[in-house]
Amino acid sequence: MSRSAHPAGPRHADVVPEGHYAAPPADLNLLDEKVWSRTVTRDADGALTVGGIGVARLAEEFGTPAYFLDEADFRARCRAWSDAFGPGADVYYAGKAFLSRAVVRWLREEGLNLDVCSGGELTTALDAGMPAERIAFHGNNKTVAEIERAVEAGVGRIVLDSFQEIVRVAHVAQRLGKRQQVQIRVTVGVEAHTHEFIATAHEDQKFGIALAGGLAAEAVRRALTLDGLELTGIHSHIGSQIFDMAGFEVSARRVVQLLAEVRDEHGVELAEIDLGGGLGIAYTSDDDPREPHEIAKALGDIVTRECEASGLATPRISVEPGRAIVGPTAFTLYEVGTIKPLEGLRTYVSVDGGMSDNIRTALYDAEYSVALVSRSSDAEPMLVRVVGKHCESGDIVVKDAFLPADLAPGDLIAVPATGAYCRSMASNYNHALRPPVVAVRDGEARVIVRRETEEDLLRLDVG
Ligand code: LLP
Repeated sequence: MSRSAHPAGPRHADVVPEGHYAAPPADLNLLDEKVWSRTVTRDADGALTVGGIGVARLAEEFGTPAYFLDEADFRARCRAWSDAFGPGADVYYAGKAFLSRAVVRWLREEGLNLDVCSGGELTTALDAGMPAERIAFHGNNKTVAEIERAVEAGVGRIVLDSFQEIVRVAHVAQRLGKRQQVQIRVTVGVEAHTHEFIATAHEDQKFGIALAGGLAAEAVRRALTLDGLELTGIHSHIGSQIFDMAGFEVSARRVVQLLAEVRDEHGVELAEIDLGGGLGIAYTSDDDPREPHEIAKALGDIVTRECEASGLATPRISVEPGRAIVGPTAFTLYEVGTIKPLEGLRTYVSVDGGMSDNIRTALYDAEYSVALVSRSSDAEPMLVRVVGKHCESGDIVVKDAFLPADLAPGDLIAVPATGAYCRSMASNYNHALRPPVVAVRDGEARVIVRRETEEDLLRLDVG
């Protein structure tokens, strides 16, 4: 179907979207730098380029759907975090956001440490040459086999998540004749949501050991007495996609209080506190994330102040940003297929991927932006819902957005800020083939995670 022959969808639907997409943006061709990675721009013809390469070439060479990761931006964000926190603190990239061997090499080169939370992430980290002492091992239910591998490899820290795990790790370390550095993960009674936090009296989730009721203090008692463990600090992670620093401040204050109690009871000053990850990024123009230096200053100030008040030496701080480093560095490129205008509602734009490459919209009601990127357009804005090709009506990539009304099958559209928790949570639903991750830098593009093939699917199917 030619562009001009395509019937334009409803412009202003009877169902008016809320929030960010309540009204169309003034210019659909503008790329808001908040949501796109740093080297993204439009060329003279209006097509999007990243790292100096146009999307038409990228689509031709690598196919769609595909994630394109701006390597220069990733490295710059790593440096911004480590510069902001400085030599007196440690930045652990949270590998769950997105991990591959190339990413591990970049982290190593940029001087970051790595947080892993499974045997698979640990294997990837070690295989790509991350020194074991720069790895922190997390998880609420690490298997004994995983603990053995981590202790044997000599990971820098294991973050203990339960009373049973304190004993499990101690036993493994004793059996292997090692003394493992550990932190205890505490739940501080701060429940963080996207834009807010709510202090909770009760802890009703699976992670960590509650400060409330003296449980965390009891965990410290046990960890200090067991051979095989060297307790170096306390860990707290309050949630994800958080913009408000207040939750982190409460968390830091409560962790420092525990350090003071430990000093008073045991005469031991624990040397480290880890305040976790969770810093938010911009998915739409409405989001206003904090810069790493603001975060570092806010956290550093509160920890210093609280420690001074308790007469403690300031401990070494660490943080674990995942999304804030990798999230903004990638976009997903899709080809537009079927376009279905629903009179009085909106136009459904189907792409060649969907919930198998981005489950976040279905799972968390996450908001995303979208743009026509293979060309610019002066057509009127059209209210759309970008959907995938899966057999499920909840298969939505972008719930409410505006795209130009002359959008046509074969156009390329891109969803920015898909670097975190998209490829890492991708699935084979409907036997979809998980898309590749292509790193782009200085005019060169290379696959760092290849596209799955049907042979990959059949290889697992041994029946
Ligand atoms: N540290 C710990 C102990 C964590 O559990 C997490 C995330 C992080 C650090 C990194 O958080 P970040 O800076 O990336 O927000 N799948 C969800 C996010 C789950 C986060 C789980 N833990 C999503 O797509 O939003």
